[in-house]
Amino acid sequence: MRRFFISGPRYTAFLGWRYAAMDSLTELQRYLERHHGGNGALAAERTFASHQRNHDDVFMAFWARHSNLQPNQSQQIADLGCGPGLFLKDLSNAHPSWQLTGIECAPYMLERIETLPKNIQVRIADLNAPARELFSDATLDLALANRLVHELHQPITLFCQLRHWLKPGGRLLLVDMVRQPIKNYLSHELKGQALRDLDLSPAQLHDLFQHFLEHNRYTSEDLCDLLTLCGFEILEVEAIRSGRAVQIAARNPNSE
Ligand SMILES: C[S@@+](CC[C@H](N)C(=O)[O-])C[C@H]1O[C@@H](n2cnc3c(N)ncnc32)[C@H](O)[C@@H]1O
Repeated sequence: MRRFFISGPRYTAFLGWRYAAMDSLTELQRYLERHHGGNGALAAERTFASHQRNHDDVFMAFWARHSNLQPNQSQQIADLGCGPGLFLKDLSNAHPSWQLTGIECAPYMLERIETLPKNIQVRIADLNAPARELFSDATLDLALANRLVHELHQPITLFCQLRHWLKPGGRLLLVDMVRQPIKNYLSHELKGQALRDLDLSPAQLHDLFQHFLEHNRYTSEDLCDLLTLCGFEILEVEAIRSGRAVQIAARNPNSE
């Protein structure tokens, strides 16, 4: 089995030993582009447009309560599914001594990453099946998964690897959409318009229901149960966005 590395001025690819076939990455990239609405460039643009909203005061207060980082010391932080790297840049500006690593695999997000300061590195990897070597054991102080987990085929491999990569006591902050009744979902997606008045085509309805399935995978309890089953301790669960999303702080225990 071969291992793939791609180096570029802005990012390196680290695709691991077993799940390394370029075909799998291409398939995943196709899946993600469809999931992101079929237009990657537009999806990246939307990530820029929603950056402030997705890192608003509610998020920053949660971050302040649970990140447990030392402002002026060297800290190792991973942003899993970092998109165009905007939050990494915010962190870098505020904390030049922190070592920041983003993981991403969508080409249209990677293309929008601008020149990075020295303390940020972005690696290309598939977080459905991340190689153990993606990070050295017990090196991360904190990992953030901000709206990544619903896009994974399954999060268990990642959670198990995080148990290795995080230092004892290290934190995982997980933010994601959670399951909601279909009438709430439709009302949000259709901006309050009645489904029966819209005369949507079968293709539009297919997309709408596919999107529903992909954004309604887990309840908050499911996410906590999966983290607990993988050995994390849950510190706080906060419902946000009128219950359509959740912020979960979890801790890698000091010992098994
Ligand atoms: C909803 S976006 C959120 C981006 C960023 N975290 C933010 O808060 O703006 C989710 C990101 O995770 C990335 N992603 C999804 N599945 C992934 C995978 N299997 N491996 C690596 N990145 C993935 C997507 O390409 C996308 O950029």
